[in-house]
Amino acid sequence: MKKLVLLFVMFAAFAVIYSCSHKTAPTIPSRPVEAVTGNKPDTADLSSSDPLVAGKAIYEIKCTKCHQKKNISDWTQEEWKPILNSMVKKSKLNDLEISQVTQYVNANAKK
Ligand code: HEC
Repeated sequence: MKKLVLLFVMFAAFAVIYSCSHKTAPTIPSRPVEAVTGNKPDTADLSSSDPLVAGKAIYEIKCTKCHQKKNISDWTQEEWKPILNSMVKKSKLNDLEISQVTQYVNANAKK
């Protein structure tokens, strides 16, 4: 009887070791790798080649350092000119960023 138990235990141990070492690696479904700088309009992408996307990102990231996001359509393009002029100086934007944020503001200003 003892031998039978020992045999059984050995068999069980072998079965466990065998099944563990022969597990196939889990298959990870391959997903397409998304580019970091995509052209998704609703993600803040400061380096986007689309001025409106970059402009929006600048507006949402750099123009909210001192105050909440201002409602762009509260001012017309004309009214925005002096405001933006002083704000881009406050935000220390470079020429490209100024151009991008200006295009974004103009596209969304009060008509
Ligand atoms: C260094 C701080 C600072 C930064 C950066 C900044 N602002 Fe301002 N902004 C102010 C202050 C101070 C006021 C006046 C108080 C207020 O309205 O909150 C103001 C006011 C405004 C107003 C209201 C103007 C009015 O006539 O009522 C708008 C619109 C505005 N900012 C847009 C922007 C935009 C767009 C940017 C990014 C290009 C920006 N701000 C970045 C400090 C800043």
